[in-house]
Amino acid sequence: MPEREEPVRLAIFISGRGSNMKTLVEACLSGEIPAKPVLVLSNSYSAAGLEWATEQGLPIAAIDHRAYGDDREAFEKDIQDTLDLHNVEFIALAGFMRVLTSWFTEKWQGRMVNIHPSLLPKYPGLHTHKRAIKAGDAEAGCSVHWVTEGVDEGAVIDQEKVPVLKDDTPESLADRVLEREHLLYPRALGKAIEDFLAREG
Ligand code: GRF
Repeated sequence: MPEREEPVRLAIFISGRGSNMKTLVEACLSGEIPAKPVLVLSNSYSAAGLEWATEQGLPIAAIDHRAYGDDREAFEKDIQDTLDLHNVEFIALAGFMRVLTSWFTEKWQGRMVNIHPSLLPKYPGLHTHKRAIKAGDAEAGCSVHWVTEGVDEGAVIDQEKVPVLKDDTPESLADRVLEREHLLYPRALGKAIEDFLAREG
């Protein structure tokens, strides 16, 4: 089977500062990940990461979920139209704070990953660092997983661990975990894309 020459066309979804998005873009540009970032998409016009992406000359899109009220599928259909315009093949969720419906997750099954700031299956959902400290955990960390319909429930691709220190606050623990997120996400996305390419071929 001939090797595919074109990099995988990647969209990165963000909602805020976009530090993970930045590490993924840099890993694609350095050749660490066999993908090309073709779109940075946000559900918020004010996401700081959009500014950085624009400065890099990357195509961006902002689709404000609030305009759709309760109609999550209408929001996702407009996202899908935007992905189609850019011929996106693979999605990395990087701090994207909207829960996606099964309409969207089924369409992207095996082609969409997420980073979550806990050692899944522990602490899916929000406030992960506060919950780890409250439970008296000795370790915390982050996970990259395949996205399925259940929030933060898809198979884990890879994880990084950090110690929880005696005086940690949710903020100090979040900072320690975020440093590891930036190591983990490029490595795990690389693995996920290799897996996708093996299946596709
Ligand atoms: C990260 O902690 C990520 O794990 C979580 O949201 C945060 C996003 O941070 N899902 P950033 O926007 O990538 O800086």
